[in-house]
Amino acid sequence: MTLAHVFQPIDLGPATLPNRIARSAHGTALAQHGIDEDLIAYHEARARGGVGLTILEIALVHPSSPSPSGIPAWDRSTIAGYERLMERLGRYEMRVFQQLWHAGRHALPADGSPPWAPSAIPSVDLGVMPLAMSHDQIDELVEAFAAAAANAREGGLHGVEVHLAHGYLLNQFLSPLANQRDDEYGGPLENRLRFPLRVLQAVRDAVGSELAVGVRLNGEDGVPGGLSNADMVDVARRLDATGLLDFFNLSLGNRWAHHKMIGPMHEPHGYELRTSVPIAAAVCKPAIVTGRILNLQEAERVLAAGDADVVSMVRATIADPDLVRKTRGGLASRVRPCIGCNHGCFAGIRNNPPRIGCAVNVGAGRETVLGDDRLPPADVVRDVVVIGGGPAGLEAARVAALRGHRVTLYEATERLGGQLAYARRAPLRGDIGTIADWLAAELTPLGVDVHLQTPVDAAVLASRSPDAVIVATGATPRRDGFQAARPLHPLAGAGTMLTSWDILGADGAGAPGFGRRALVLDDLGHYEAIAVIDRLFEEVETVHLVTRFAELGTLVDSSLSAAPARERFGIRDFHVHPHSWLEGFADGGATIASLDADVRRAVDVDTVVLVSGATPRRPLDVVDGFVGPVHVVGDALGHRFLLTAVHDGNRAGRAV
Ligand SMILES: Cc1cc2nc3c(=O)[nH]c(=O)nc-3n(C[C@H](O)[C@H](O)[C@H](O)COP(=O)(O)OP(=O)(O)OC[C@H]3O[C@@H](n4cnc5c(N)ncnc54)[C@H](O)[C@@H]3O)c2cc1C
Ligand SMILES: Cc1cc2nc3c(=O)[nH]c(=O)nc-3n(C[C@H](O)[C@H](O)[C@H](O)COP(=O)(O)O)c2cc1C
Repeated sequence: MTLAHVFQPIDLGPATLPNRIARSAHGTALAQHGIDEDLIAYHEARARGGVGLTILEIALVHPSSPSPSGIPAWDRSTIAGYERLMERLGRYEMRVFQQLWHAGRHALPADGSPPWAPSAIPSVDLGVMPLAMSHDQIDELVEAFAAAAANAREGGLHGVEVHLAHGYLLNQFLSPLANQRDDEYGGPLENRLRFPLRVLQAVRDAVGSELAVGVRLNGEDGVPGGLSNADMVDVARRLDATGLLDFFNLSLGNRWAHHKMIGPMHEPHGYELRTSVPIAAAVCKPAIVTGRILNLQEAERVLAAGDADVVSMVRATIADPDLVRKTRGGLASRVRPCIGCNHGCFAGIRNNPPRIGCAVNVGAGRETVLGDDRLPPADVVRDVVVIGGGPAGLEAARVAALRGHRVTLYEATERLGGQLAYARRAPLRGDIGTIADWLAAELTPLGVDVHLQTPVDAAVLASRSPDAVIVATGATPRRDGFQAARPLHPLAGAGTMLTSWDILGADGAGAPGFGRRALVLDDLGHYEAIAVIDRLFEEVETVHLVTRFAELGTLVDSSLSAAPARERFGIRDFHVHPHSWLEGFADGGATIASLDADVRRAVDVDTVVLVSGATPRRPLDVVDGFVGPVHVVGDALGHRFLLTAVHDGNRAGRAV
C-alpha cells in the first residue's frame, strides 16, 4: 500500500506539518518539576522518529486545577522550559502545540477550597460539591487561559489547543449534564457556548495569527440527557463559523466513560471514527482523528477515504517512537506494536509515583537511559542461553543480541509466546499476542538461535556450557485452592477444577465441558478473570464471580480494563460476590462466604474456574552445576504481568 496521503504536508493555520501523523495531548507526569530532560528526551525521540505534530500534555492554566501530570503554564518560569524544549525540537520538522486545560469540578484546588464548576453538580469521581463559578471567577479564568497561551507563544511553540472535551471545565459549560445555570452562561446552547467562546477569543488575541489555535472536542457525552453526536456536529459548526480556529482535534470519552477516551485492546482499531467523522465532515478547518489507529496503513485508509485530515497515534508511538521513520524506510514489520493494554501508559500516570511507561517498550518515558538506542554494546561477546520463550525470555534474548552477544533461546513447547498464547485466545484480547509475534520475529535478523520443543535440563545446559544463563521459565496456574484472604482454608477438591489454561488452551475435542452455570474464583483482581469470563460467556448462561475485592478487576481499573468488562457482563446473567471467599464446592453447589460477616450463600453452579495465581517455575536443578551468572526473570521470579516480564527481560539482556 502506498502512503501517499500520510506523507503529504498540511497547514494547520500558520503551522505546516511535514506529514499527517500527530500525537494528541497525553499526560506523562514527566513535567512535575517543570520541563526537564526527561520530557524533552521523550518528545525528541518521537520527533526524530518522524511524527508530524505533537500536542504537549495539559498545561495547567490556574491553581484551581492542579495535576501531577501537567505543565504548570500559569507560572511564567515555564517559558524557560518551553525554550529549552523548542531549542532541541527545533532540529526536527515536528510542530509542537500546547494543550490548555482546566478540570473544573474534577479538580481539587491546591488551597483546599471547593472545585470550580458551572453549577453545583459534583464530579462522579470526587465526593466534593463544587462551587458554581461567579462572574468574577469566569473572568479570571478567561484571563488565565489567555496568559497560558501567551506563555506558550513566548516559549516558541507553534500552536495551542483549548481543551473543550472529556468533561473538563469548558466541556462542563457546554453540557446540560453539568451546566444548569440560569444566567447568560446557561440554558440554550448559545449561552452554554459563551464561556468557551470567550476563552477562545482571548486565546486567539493572546497569540495573534502567529500560532495555530484549535480545540479538542468530544464526539458525544455518551450519557442520557447529554450532548449527542448531532449536538456536537452543531457545536463544531458554530465554532468553525467564528473563524477563531485553525483545527479541530476530535476525541471521545469522559469521567463517566474514561475507557472510551483511551480505549483498551477490546476496542476495534479506529473505534472513535463513528463519532469523529461526522464532525470532521461538518467543519471547514482540518480535523484530527484518533482512537487505536495503530499503523500507517490504517492511517492511510482514514486519510484516503477523506474521513479526516490528520491522524493522531498516541499509544502506537509510545510503543514505538520510530513508527513513522521505520515505515517510511520500508520497515513496517519492524514497528513494535501497541497492544492497547494501558498498563504502562495510562496506569503509569496513575501509579504512585506517577510516570508514563509502556508494557512493551521499556524505554518509553525513560529515553535518557533505557531506549534501544542507549543499549551499551557488550564489552566482551558472551554465549548467552535463555531458557523459556515467553515475553521475558524473548525480550532478554532480543536485548542481549542487540548488544552483540551470541544468544541461544530454548523453548519447551512448539511455539514462542509463553502464557500469551492463552491470553490472546480470550475474546477481545487478540492484540496482546502481537507483541509475542513481534518479539519472536525480531530474533531472526538478530541471529538468535531458537530451539523449539527443547525443554532445558542440566544435560542440555552442560552440553552448551554458556557464559551466562537467563531463566525465563514462567509460571503454572495454582490448583491447590489457595485463597489469600483465608490462607489456611484451601478449597477442597481444587485439584480437579479448571484454570484459565484449561478453558483458553484447548478447543475441539480437547476442550473441557463448560456446563451452564459457572463460578469463577478470582483471587487476583486482574485481567485474567476478565479473560476467563469473556470466554465462559461464549458457552455458559450464568457466571458467578467470587472475589476478595470490591468488584471485578479492581487492580486493573487504572488500565481501564475493568469498566468495559463490567459493561459487557452487565447485560448477561452475571453475579458478583464481592469481599467473599469460596468455602466449598460439591454436588453442583458452591458455598460462598462473606469476608465481612459470618454469612454464607449457596449457589447452584456446575463448573468452577480457579483464577488464584500461578506458581513460578524455577528449574534450579538445571542451573545447579553452572558456575556463571544466572538471571531469573518474569513470572519465573514471581507471578506478575506482561509488563514486569518484558521489563525484567530487558534488564537481564542489559546485564549479561
Ligand atoms: C489467560 C491469561 C491472561 C493474561 N492476560 C494478561 C494481561 O492482560 N496483561 C498482563 O500483563 N498479563 C497477562 N497475563 C500474564 C502474562 O501472560 C504473564 O505474566 C507473562 O506471560 C509472563 O511471561 P514470562 O515470559 O515470564 O513467562 P511465560 O509467559 O510463562 O513463559 C515461560 C516460557 O518458558 C517455557 N519453559 C518453561 N520451562 C522450560 C524449560 N525447562 N525449558 C525451555 N522452556 C521452558 C514455557 O513453555 C513458556 O513458553 C495473562 C496470563 C494468562 C494465563
Ligand atoms: C497516558 C495518557 C494520557 C492522556 N492524557 C490526555 C490529556 O491530558 N489530554 C487529552 O486531551 N487526551 C489525553 N489522552 C488521550 C489521547 O490524547 C488519545 O486521544 C487517546 O490515547 C486515544 O488515542 P490512541 O489510541 O492513539 O492512543 C491521554 C492518553 C494517554 C494514553
